[in-house]
Parts: sequence; C-alpha cells; structure tokens
Amino acid sequence: MQNLGQLFDIAVELGVKNDPRGKKEIQKILTKREKSYKKLDKEKKKYFDTETLHHIYSDSRILYGKKDRKIKKIIVGIDMETPELLLANELNKNGQKIDAIMAHHPEGRALLNLTGVMDLQETIAGELGVPINIAEKLLADRVGKIDRALHADNIQRNTRNAELLDIPYFNTHTPADNCAYQHVTKHICNKEFDNLGEIVDALMKIDEYRLSAEYGNPPVIISGSNSSKPGKIVATGFTGGTSGNKDIYEHLSRSGVGTILTMHMSEDYKKEAEKHHINVIVCSHMASDSLGMNYILDEYEKKGIEIIPCSGMIRVSRI
Ligand SMILES: [Fe+2]
Ligand SMILES: [Fe+2]
Repeated sequence: MQNLGQLFDIAVELGVKNDPRGKKEIQKILTKREKSYKKLDKEKKKYFDTETLHHIYSDSRILYGKKDRKIKKIIVGIDMETPELLLANELNKNGQKIDAIMAHHPEGRALLNLTGVMDLQETIAGELGVPINIAEKLLADRVGKIDRALHADNIQRNTRNAELLDIPYFNTHTPADNCAYQHVTKHICNKEFDNLGEIVDALMKIDEYRLSAEYGNPPVIISGSNSSKPGKIVATGFTGGTSGNKDIYEHLSRSGVGTILTMHMSEDYKKEAEKHHINVIVCSHMASDSLGMNYILDEYEKKGIEIIPCSGMIRVSRI
C-alpha cells in the first residue's frame, strides 16, 4: 500500500533521473522559480501555481485527491478523460476497488502548464549542436502559440468530474517521456545501423512496439526509405511537452542530424524535415508513451500496486 503523494513522487524522481538536463540544471531552475515567487506581492502569490515550486514537471500533477489517500489498485491510460473516469466508476460498481486514475497526457492545470516543460527541447537541440540563441527563439514562438490555444480550452472539465466521483486522479507526462527518450537513445540512437530498415527491425525488438505492431500500428518510416542511410540518429520527438518549432529541422540538418525518431509527426512537420533531407521514423505514439509509463509502473508494481491498463496503455513489465 502506498499513498497518492508517494506514487506521484516516485514518478518525479524517475523523471529527474532520466532528464537530459541533469539534476544540477533542474535544481538551478527550481531555485530561480522560488526566488521569483518570493518577489511576488500577496495578490499575485494567490494565483501562482505553488506545485511548480516542488518539482520541475509543470505538465504532471495530482489533479484531484489528497496526498495521503491510500492506493492499492490503479487504472492507467495514455488519455484518461471523462469516459475513462466513468469506466473506473463502473468497474468499481462491479467490485474492482480502483483507488486512483492515472493518465499520461496532461489534464487540468497540468495541461495549461504544458509549455513549462518545453525548454527541455533547448537542451536536446543544444546538445546536437544547434546554437542556444536559435533554439531559444524558435521555441519561444511555438510556446506562445500553444499557450494561446490552451487558454481557450475547457481545462477543468475532467478534473472536476474526478472530484464529483471522488476518485483520486493524477498524471505523469514528462517524467514518463524522459524515460522513453533515454530508452530509445540507449537502445537505438547510440547504436550503428546501415539503413532505416534495420532501425525499424531494432525498434520491433522493444516489446511495446512489437505489441503495437500486432494491433496494426508498427513503427513507420515517413521520410526516407528502408534502404536510406541513417547518419546521426536522434530522438528529438520523445520528450519536452509537445512538438517544438518545425523550423528547427533546418538547423538540426546543418548540425549533422540524419535521422529523427519521434512519437508522432504532423504533415507540415514531415514536409519541413523532408525539405532538409532528414529521415524520420515515427515510432508509434501510444507504444512510445507506454514505454515511458512502464518505467514508472514497474516501480509501482515493486511496491505492490495493482495495475489495470486501458486507453492505449500497453503494459510491459521489466521487473
Ligand atoms: Fe508522451
Ligand atoms: Fe503522447
């Protein structure tokens, strides 16, 4: 038995351990945040999200439920919205005893704060050789667009429904995506391949991708072909909130990036990558998110938590 706060903290800890920015940089950001919070007047402090002072992942939070709520069984999915909340409630009526609902994609204030994690993309682009001034300006433009779009969203809808049902509700987004990023970096990007076809074969050796392929959703090459030479392989589309600015591909290409692995890519991004001769492998969205979530769920399983996967979650235990 764990409590809700402990489960959430396990995810944050794993997120930090696998964060491309490293612990020191993360601490620096938190210290800066604390300082600017202290400078705010009383009125402004009222509206400041103090959760963001405790950990770096503004797109992940306990959406509903007191931290000391005892948890033995959870239902977990990539998107957990009102249909899944009602599903949990229905399963409980059938005697399941689900104590909490865990989502990957952000909801409520975590969704509103999505862009708060995007500066992680600057670190990744910087490591690949894109000058920080370019990475920073491209990202700022994109962040503005996303923030303006989210501002219009019905943000508290699902959170309020969890409250009405009185089922604890939380999400872990970037902590899980960091784990997936490190997994593919270690098992794919850091290895050598003669062509893209070989990379797809290697991806298929990762259980989440193999199982996703069984449902008809395997990793696919959307720019380049089976016989294309990979060059430098990077997983730029795995963590950092959501897609960055598509204009980054020009700079990544100049910095020597040959192949991008990503969770998903829209058509206009694909066109831009092609324009700059970058190969792209879309690894499957739900499978990639599941890969990251499974790192967290393995830790929960070790603590005796029962897990019911649903909503795109492909559960693979590596214990
Ligand atoms: Fe994700
Ligand atoms: Fe996702």
